[in-house]
Amino acid sequence: MMTWKLLYFCMLIGLKVNLSVAIHANTWSACECEWDSWKSWGECDSDCFGNRRRSRSVYSYCDKFTDCASNDEGFEWQGCNEVCHNGGSASWFSCYCKAGFHGSCCTEVVNCGTPDNVINGTRVWTSTSYGGVAEYSCNIYYNMTTGDPVRTCQDDFTWSGTTPQCVFAYQCNSSPCINGECVNLLGDFRCDCHDGWTGRLCEKDIQPPVVVNCSSNISINATKRTVRFDWTSPSFYDPLGNHLDIVSNYPTPSFVFPWGDFTAQYVATKPSNGLSAECAFNISVRPTPCEELNIPINGARLCNGWRADYGQFCMVTCQQNYTIGAGDNSFETMYVCGASGTWIESGPIPDCLVETESVEEALIYQPEYETYSFEGSCDNVTMTALQHLYLERIVSTGGFDELCTQFPDECVLDNVDVKCGATSR
Ligand SMILES: *[C@@H]1O[C@H](CO)[C@@H](O)[C@H](O)[C@H]1NC(C)=O
Ligand SMILES: *[C@@H]1O[C@H](CO)[C@@H](O)[C@H](O)[C@H]1NC(C)=O
Ligand SMILES: *[C@@H]1O[C@H](CO)[C@@H](O)[C@H](O)[C@H]1NC(C)=O
Ligand SMILES: *[C@@H]1O[C@H](CO)[C@@H](O)[C@H](O)[C@H]1NC(C)=O
Ligand SMILES: *[C@@H]1O[C@H](CO)[C@@H](O)[C@H](O)[C@H]1NC(C)=O
Ligand SMILES: *[C@@H]1O[C@H](CO)[C@@H](O)[C@H](O)[C@H]1NC(C)=O
Ligand SMILES: *[C@@H]1O[C@H](CO)[C@@H](O)[C@H](O)[C@H]1NC(C)=O
Ligand SMILES: *[C@@H]1O[C@H](CO)[C@@H](O)[C@H](O)[C@H]1NC(C)=O
Repeated sequence: MMTWKLLYFCMLIGLKVNLSVAIHANTWSACECEWDSWKSWGECDSDCFGNRRRSRSVYSYCDKFTDCASNDEGFEWQGCNEVCHNGGSASWFSCYCKAGFHGSCCTEVVNCGTPDNVINGTRVWTSTSYGGVAEYSCNIYYNMTTGDPVRTCQDDFTWSGTTPQCVFAYQCNSSPCINGECVNLLGDFRCDCHDGWTGRLCEKDIQPPVVVNCSSNISINATKRTVRFDWTSPSFYDPLGNHLDIVSNYPTPSFVFPWGDFTAQYVATKPSNGLSAECAFNISVRPTPCEELNIPINGARLCNGWRADYGQFCMVTCQQNYTIGAGDNSFETMYVCGASGTWIESGPIPDCLVETESVEEALIYQPEYETYSFEGSCDNVTMTALQHLYLERIVSTGGFDELCTQFPDECVLDNVDVKCGATSR
């Protein structure tokens, strides 16, 4: 039977089974098989390190391709695109991409996307691809606080650094400080207050009244039982100019003082903030002090040791066998330091210079000799006796007893000032 020699295609069933040994079928010759030429190579199946295939047909008088050869004889594989793109380097059929490219064949460009927006600022960028640069700036009156003004698109698909923040930095433009200097801060402001003001906006008045010419303490030597004294009132003012209320315990800066200790007090209060200032000073009025009295020879001087600055009351006593002369004052004479600053019954007090051998003789000179003489030396016993003598004397004498009636706590034995004089032999 005569048949036409026809063209047969292989059944493309196999995968890349290049390794099978190509063997012509036994009927190759009987069927007069003859290869057609290879077709051109097909598409490469990958951008890099792929494979491509070509096929061929066979002319034969028989019915099937397999009458000539096994199916795998009808096609052939070949590696293709054996490179990495964009400068990537190949290693064992895979690609290591250069910075800025990715994908298994390095065909894709790294892209960081649109850089983040910034509030109250602007952003511009050259490109969102690898190496692209984004630049941020803040609107007028806004300062950049955190973040980076320049960011670059990196190989890991991110922009370098962090998104900046723009913060309002000119709050002082609205002059918020009432009594102070405004300092701009980031997103805030600070008021540096003028003297006398405080508070966030320097709105609170903390200025107390100011006192000038506050008198220092005064001491006055009176020459009478009372003394008129004029002084200068202190002045008060508020540097901020507010009204002040001033009160004093002395309505006028003038007063007739008795002897004693006084305090003049002035208080200024500022009604607008309740703060106040005070000026207080002491006025001490005393009788003018007298010169110190002498201490009698062979005798003793007895004085009040308390309240001596209000007045002094002194008397003389004599040691046994001594007395004062007849022409001198008597033992009953009180030497008084009055307000005038001089001793009434003027000093010096007489010494016990008249030596006597008997009481009788002594009485000729002074009838009170026995009461006012003391035995022996000026020892503690004698001193105590003299203190007793002094207290009895002043308590029983009108005018002097005031020292005890006015200051009973101080009118005690120990406060009587006893000073014994020298002996003449
Ligand atoms: C700043 O941003 C805020 C929030 O977006 C906006 O309300 C405000 O008007 C902006 N300020 C200026 C001066 O643009
Ligand atoms: C804001 O920026 C300006 C210009 O750099 C600067 O002079 C000013 O001190 C800044 N303000 C603050 C509050 O940091
Ligand atoms: C304080 O006293 C001085 C001297 O007496 C006087 O010159 C001055 O004016 C006084 N100041 C006030 C505020 O009164
Ligand atoms: C007056 O003296 C008193 C003490 O007696 C003292 O505390 C006060 O500060 C003095 N005042 C003046 C204005 O010197
Ligand atoms: C008062 O008198 C004493 C003693 O004489 C004297 O030291 C003092 O300075 C006087 N004081 C006044 C304010 O005159
Ligand atoms: C002087 O004044 C102060 C108050 O200013 C008072 O405490 C003190 O007792 C006074 N001194 C005399 C000796 O009066
Ligand atoms: C001193 O006086 C006493 C009597 O008061 C008398 O007994 C005595 O003798 C006198 N002594 C002398 C040394 O005179
Ligand atoms: C006298 O009194 C003083 C203190 O007041 C004391 O120290 C002294 O020992 C006393 N002397 C005699 C002899 O008692």
